[in-house]
Amino acid sequence: MSLPSKPAVTSAPVHELIRDRWSPRAFADRPVPRDALVSVLEAGRWAASSNNSQPWRWIVATRDDPAAHAAALTGFNARNQRWARTAPVLIFALARKTFEANGNPNAHAWHDTGAASAQMALQATAVGLHIHTAAGIERDRLRELFAIPDEFDICTGMALGYQGEPEILPEELPARETEPRSRKTLGDIAFSGRFGHAIEI
Ligand SMILES: Cc1cc2nc3c(=O)[nH]c(=O)nc-3n(C[C@H](O)[C@H](O)[C@H](O)COP(=O)(O)O)c2cc1C
Repeated sequence: MSLPSKPAVTSAPVHELIRDRWSPRAFADRPVPRDALVSVLEAGRWAASSNNSQPWRWIVATRDDPAAHAAALTGFNARNQRWARTAPVLIFALARKTFEANGNPNAHAWHDTGAASAQMALQATAVGLHIHTAAGIERDRLRELFAIPDEFDICTGMALGYQGEPEILPEELPARETEPRSRKTLGDIAFSGRFGHAIEI
């Protein structure tokens, strides 16, 4: 049986990488080649950032090192562990809260780390992989586990891998693999003239 795909239904054509990216929870028991993993990290590295501060850092655990992968999995909350465990690569995105140059607070650190994450997800799509991001993570545990300095916020966990069969997931999760994706309309979020006044499409 073919795996579910969930192309975005858009009101204007978008690049196929944007159309085809989505967040599965079932990942195949198939390793991610090192060059593909490096390409995903590289895509994040080349994101734009305020003052080119590059506040992002990533902690990467792959199933090649089963102990590291098992430890990283405990950094996801219990609900997210149900699916994150299927992914051969687990990544945590960190954001440096201050500018390295002068120690001033960097109000854009989360924005820029999120932008890097978006680039990573698109690069993953480009090489046939998927990323599922999770904010439901155990930050205190992760800080201790990976000796993450206080200077860094722990933003998200990411599961990376090839898409898998929905049936490998427990409980209600298989059905969620085929649930339609939904978005607000463009008129709900893009305005002209004043806030709330939908742009003409
Ligand atoms: C910052 C962030 C946090 C998220 N946290 C979770 C999470 O904790 N658990 C989960 O199952 N999905 C999580 N997601 C996935 C979203 O639910 C998903 O991206 C959204 O429903 C849109 O679906 P799509 O990515 O397939 O377009 C998160 C996504 C982002 C970007």
